Amino acid sequence: MAVLWSASVKTLARHDSRTPDVEIRMTTRHDFSENLMSLQSHILLEEAKHPRASGDFTWIVSAISLAAKSIANQVRRARLSGSIGQFGETNVQGEEQQKLDVIANEAIMRCLGTRASVAVLASEEDDEPTILRKGSEGGKYCVLFDPLDGSSNLDTGVGVGTIFSILRNDPNIPDAQTTVCQPGSKQVAAGYILYGSSTIFVLTTDSGVALFELDPYIGSFLLVKDNLRIPTANKVYSVNEAYASSFPQGYQNYLAWAHQNGYSSRYIGSMVADVHRILLTGGVFMYPPTKKNPEGKLRYLYEASPMAFIIERAGGLAYSGAIPTLEHLPQRVHERVPVLMGSRDEVTKVREFLR
Ligand code: AHG
Ligand code: MN
Ligand code: MN
Repeated sequence: MAVLWSASVKTLARHDSRTPDVEIRMTTRHDFSENLMSLQSHILLEEAKHPRASGDFTWIVSAISLAAKSIANQVRRARLSGSIGQFGETNVQGEEQQKLDVIANEAIMRCLGTRASVAVLASEEDDEPTILRKGSEGGKYCVLFDPLDGSSNLDTGVGVGTIFSILRNDPNIPDAQTTVCQPGSKQVAAGYILYGSSTIFVLTTDSGVALFELDPYIGSFLLVKDNLRIPTANKVYSVNEAYASSFPQGYQNYLAWAHQNGYSSRYIGSMVADVHRILLTGGVFMYPPTKKNPEGKLRYLYEASPMAFIIERAGGLAYSGAIPTLEHLPQRVHERVPVLMGSRDEVTKVREFLR
């Protein structure tokens, strides 16, 4: 006998003459923890906690979620639509742009460009931040983003992501470079979207970290887990170990210690995917300085800072050199920093070797 709708239950009709094989059950007391919650509803609820909130922030996150759905769709069909491969130009950082880097960048620009409260957009793929409107014209926020993280992995179908950071625009600062150069602790919100075996949206605002999954059949990101916490320890490190001989000695000593102490290694080469795994299952993610990249490879404003914000809000730790990543004050939009983040005990252990 099929059950159409069940929970903790009261049978309404055991023998319905029109559908004799169907048992219809209904709750007397509904379990509201099992209700569906969309990303949009989640942000509206968050906003309702702030009586003076204008709704601008909700518009921005909803624009990012629209862009994310568009990018997810294009990443999933990349081979069929011929958008795998290099675009044929390098960005300001000297990196080969993939076609999908450019497509993702445009998707975000188009979705955010029309939002009235966005003052400045800064992207990994653009030399300079784009000023959309001044503070006096209603520009309240700056949105910084890595449109497609891990894009060199695209041609092998590996998980890639989008990272974003939302900062307040200081209306007294006329120049866009200066207004976006804020320490990570000033972020209003940050998040990432992982285009993996499913499409995951992780968002942090001032009330914790929430994880949503895209239901492709209804086109909505639905809440899977609220108030996400990173495990305090797990014997896993995520680093490009092939560069170990060019890491500072402390990292090399840590790795030698980890080899002797039952650690496992996981490295995808897409920061979003690597950090997402660490967030859910614990461990430590690192991109140390190397001879090739003495400042580290990852960019502060749209890679290190937002991911550190998420990890710290989930109860983990994040350091760039000797200081917490969120306390670093960047001087340039595309500035790079070393990255060490993850479970509290694991980050602390690495830092013992770096002193
Ligand atoms: P992006 O694709 O946005 O340029 O970022 C690539 C980054 C990051 O995702 C990853 O952690 C790192 O590059 C991998 O670098 P290596 O190949 O040097 O390990
Ligand atoms: Mn990146
Ligand atoms: Mn990128």
